[in-house]
Amino acid sequence: VKPRFEDVSIENVRSFWNRRPCNVRHSPKPIGSKEYFDEVEARKYFVEPHIPRFAEFPRWARARVLEIGCGIGTDTINFARNGAWVTAVDLSDESLALAARRAEVYGLEHRIKFRHANAEELDRVVPADERFDLVYSFGVIHHTPHPERVLEHASAYLGPGGTLKVMVYNRRSFKVLAIAVRHSWGRLRKLDRLVAKHSEAQTGSPVTYVYSKPELRALLERHGFRIEEIWADHIFPWRIGDYLEYRYVKKWQWRWLPESIFHLLERLLGWHLCASAIRKE
Ligand SMILES: C[S@@+](CC[C@H](N)C(=O)[O-])C[C@H]1O[C@@H](n2cnc3c(N)ncnc32)[C@H](O)[C@@H]1O
Repeated sequence: VKPRFEDVSIENVRSFWNRRPCNVRHSPKPIGSKEYFDEVEARKYFVEPHIPRFAEFPRWARARVLEIGCGIGTDTINFARNGAWVTAVDLSDESLALAARRAEVYGLEHRIKFRHANAEELDRVVPADERFDLVYSFGVIHHTPHPERVLEHASAYLGPGGTLKVMVYNRRSFKVLAIAVRHSWGRLRKLDRLVAKHSEAQTGSPVTYVYSKPELRALLERHGFRIEEIWADHIFPWRIGDYLEYRYVKKWQWRWLPESIFHLLERLLGWHLCASAIRKE
């Protein structure tokens, strides 16, 4: 993957995610209340049902989990709820404040250490001799100017045999195709910038890399990982206007498609490339 965003400052990335923490509008209830957090979780796993399958929360009971880019903490809480000991870091202090509040609301603060950190410099915040059984990062490393620096840390914090689970965006996806058709006006050389601009709920992400499966495989192998599985998942089928009003109505092109064919398409052209990998000796 060509490093097209390596000159972007980390301050830009931080302020983008501080302006609108990921999934913060997943509920209209008062922010910080239990009802709010319950609804955020229900909506997230309704529209992204592959996340619990990918994370395998119950598998990590009693394990030490390092979550890189926890956002407002939906997955963090589920690791802790299932008995893991979690260290969760994020660049956005606004997101972390909500995640920490969420842990309090569910009485899980004793299981989670939240740390404000740039994951490219993780050893400034997490002691270099700490070891984890799982490093988990969902939708994060493609948003930082130097994803490979994050992977160097991930590799170092895992002992041999430790597991990495990472999700990055898929270059060969329906979403990239849709952005090309809708926004590129034939200027395909600018596609990488356009994909970044339109990749998130809030327009204008300063950094969003996309990877093909072979690119992700090569990236992980370069950092000392043996790949167990990489698969694509997630096509967003909902009409945006309704979705913003918390109604779920499929766009016409998906409405009549049998579920089984839809899932097959997600495996071929989904936006999320989910990888499980093992740290080699
Ligand atoms: C799309 S959100 C995903 C959040 C969470 N993993 C989830 O699935 O809800 C991306 C997150 O990555 C964080 N992030 C981006 N670059 C980072 C970096 N260099 N270090 C730590 N966190 C970072 C952002 O602050 C943001 O919370």
